[in-house]
Amino acid sequence: MIEKINKIKEELAGLKAANAAEVEQLRIKYLSKRGEISLLMNDFRSVPAEQKRELGQKLNELKNYATERINALKESFAAQADNAAADIDLTRTATPMPVGSRHPLSTVKNDMLRIFAGMGFTIAEGPEIEDDWHVFSSLNFPADHPARDMQDTFFIARNPADILLRTHTSSVQTRVMEKTQPPIRIVCPGRVYRNEAISARAHCFFHQVEGLYIDKNVSFADLKQVLLYFAKEMFGAQTKIRLRPSYFPFTEPSAEMDISCDLCGGKGCAFCKGTGWVEILGCGMVDPNVLEACGIDSKVYSGYAFGMGIERITNLKYRVKDLRMFSENDVRFLQEFEAAR
Ligand code: DAH
Repeated sequence: MIEKINKIKEELAGLKAANAAEVEQLRIKYLSKRGEISLLMNDFRSVPAEQKRELGQKLNELKNYATERINALKESFAAQADNAAADIDLTRTATPMPVGSRHPLSTVKNDMLRIFAGMGFTIAEGPEIEDDWHVFSSLNFPADHPARDMQDTFFIARNPADILLRTHTSSVQTRVMEKTQPPIRIVCPGRVYRNEAISARAHCFFHQVEGLYIDKNVSFADLKQVLLYFAKEMFGAQTKIRLRPSYFPFTEPSAEMDISCDLCGGKGCAFCKGTGWVEILGCGMVDPNVLEACGIDSKVYSGYAFGMGIERITNLKYRVKDLRMFSENDVRFLQEFEAAR
């Protein structure tokens, strides 16, 4: 029996387990009712009386030692399990997802459309790939007008019809007038293309909002009032406007509109080149030739039109120095407009 006790003691000294399940196996092997130590306890009954004292003590020591060893192993695995649980910090926030922001051109476009919608204008859109008729001919461009030149226009096909990328959203005017009889009151937002060298101040594509109002007895005074209201809504109630005579094939008379420079309050600064004014759009009374080309009786109806660049308006509001930033998709630039959403 002594031998058995010593053998088990040796085994216990070198006891090893790879995981908690193996520890449990060892517990069953040594300490359960049918375990090796319990079996020795059974044998103990038949031990001669004079050896009982010594063996009894040894057996008890063995049992305590086994309990101690197995508990120590158990604890080491319990601690490991705790550590594994501790690696997952349940109080941590989930992986942060960067929230996107609206592109500044979209924000400004939406502002513009909201202002005109408030005056009863509805939105009309047209294709970016256009034909000569909608972009030029219907809008009273003479056949030899320089805007048709290859240097300004991206032509897609020369024959049989001239297919091109629209150079302005005025083409949507024609598309709507061809299909609708007055009253017509529309704003046409969209992308336009011009064959320009890309620089801080020019790009081969940009965005415009075109406006058109056709009805009986529409006057230049109506145009001026609508544009003044727009300027004040867009740039603040202190904003002044001025109209300078200009030329566009599709309007007669034509004008360009300036707003008072809000950087210097009209006193004159580097931004407005000392004039106190900055140009924001072109406008005029729709030329009777355009109405007739689109099937509208110019003796009954008159109307006004205006067109402006969304990049230009955005620059005036946010002073973006380089046009290219609008299309480079640099998130650092876009994030600067998060507050303006
Ligand atoms: N289409 C012109 C451009 O691209 C802008 C414009 C000027 C539109 C005068 C108009 C207008 O409707 O009346 O520069």
